[in-house]
Amino acid sequence: MNILLTGGAGYIGSHVAITLLEYGHRPVIFDNFVNSTSNVIARIELIVNKTIDCIEGDIRDMPALIKVIKENKIDAVIHLAGLKSVSESNEKPLDYFSVNVGGTISLLQAMKKTGVRHLVFSSSATVYGEPRYLPIDESHPTNPTNVYGETKLQTELILRNLSESDASWKFGCLRYFNPVGAHHSGLIGEAPLGRPNNLMPIIASVAAGERGELKIFGGDYGTKDGTGIRDYVHVMDLARGHLASINYLAKVGSHLVNLGTGMGYSVLEVVGAYQQISCKTIPYSVEKRRSGDVAAVYANTKLAESLLGWRATQNLYEMCATSWAWKSQQSKI
Ligand code: NAD
Ligand code: UD1
Repeated sequence: MNILLTGGAGYIGSHVAITLLEYGHRPVIFDNFVNSTSNVIARIELIVNKTIDCIEGDIRDMPALIKVIKENKIDAVIHLAGLKSVSESNEKPLDYFSVNVGGTISLLQAMKKTGVRHLVFSSSATVYGEPRYLPIDESHPTNPTNVYGETKLQTELILRNLSESDASWKFGCLRYFNPVGAHHSGLIGEAPLGRPNNLMPIIASVAAGERGELKIFGGDYGTKDGTGIRDYVHVMDLARGHLASINYLAKVGSHLVNLGTGMGYSVLEVVGAYQQISCKTIPYSVEKRRSGDVAAVYANTKLAESLLGWRATQNLYEMCATSWAWKSQQSKI
């Protein structure tokens, strides 16, 4: 299939591109490089030993999307382009609604005009808000506590309304838990243009000696060691989830599923695993809790397994090992 991959130069998108190519699909990347660089394209090409199509553009530019869809005979879309910083979303709500919701509407209009009806959307576990029970299944109430989460939930609603209005639309909504790790080659990985806020890139940066210590946000949660628990999922497992979703759209239809491992690890467990893998000491201090954080979040993954036949296969050590391979390689550039 010819698959339009919006945000394909980003962290998750670059790994999805590799998986699509490995399974014989042709991804066409569409990205404005607001949080990525064009270097990643050459690296994807090196890994798969093929050239790939990449168009620079903004998803809010509907005529540009129509042109790309027509010229490349696009069959389906995987939509990852978006802004993703929780703190920034609360400071710049208009930007987040414009790109995440407005951009998706522009993409859907371009698809409507060109007759493309299948789209996989990158949603987030952040739509659930404070967990009422664990593990979180897809029937858990949604109650986002930040603007970013609101934009994801509103987009899901738009997709649901659209498929209810016209049965030819088919959507796969994937609610990712905490994507981490990198491609095993060490050639691509998470490379945000600003300062990272998420745990694993910060640990990697401490291990590489770029930062003095990790600040652990909260050591007094009611968890096994007092630190926060999350469901970390390897980005290559996540990438396979997109393939399963695209296949399910073609054979069956719309779906909304969690993509996680179903396992929760504490901050200290992640630090311990990373130290073992990297053979580096990761100094840390325990600070006060970060506002908006919750004690524990992990997924019920039964629906993804039963509908899509998808299950995460890589463990915490593989997540840390590939993150470290990527980090070590980056510092050599
Ligand atoms: P990323 O920032 O690395 O990738 C997003 C890509 O979209 C970037 O390459 C960026 O340049 C591009 N982009 C942004 N605005 C654009 C626009 N207006 N037009 C065209 N391209 C644009 O982020 P990621 O981690 O790869 O996340 C991909 C998607 O998954 C995002 O929608 C994000 O909200 C969602 N998601 C990510 C996580 C996570 O932890 N990484 C968790 C849940 C959901
Ligand atoms: C955050 C976002 C979430 C988003 C996800 C992936 C918030 C409140 N939530 O989730 O919406 O989908 O990233 O992009 O921002 N931690 C530290 N020290 C650090 C960084 C993190 O102790 O320097 C801890 C956190 O308190 C948490 C865990 O590590 O317990 C994971 O944090 P993080 O990687 O930021 O992910 P989430 O908070 O789960």
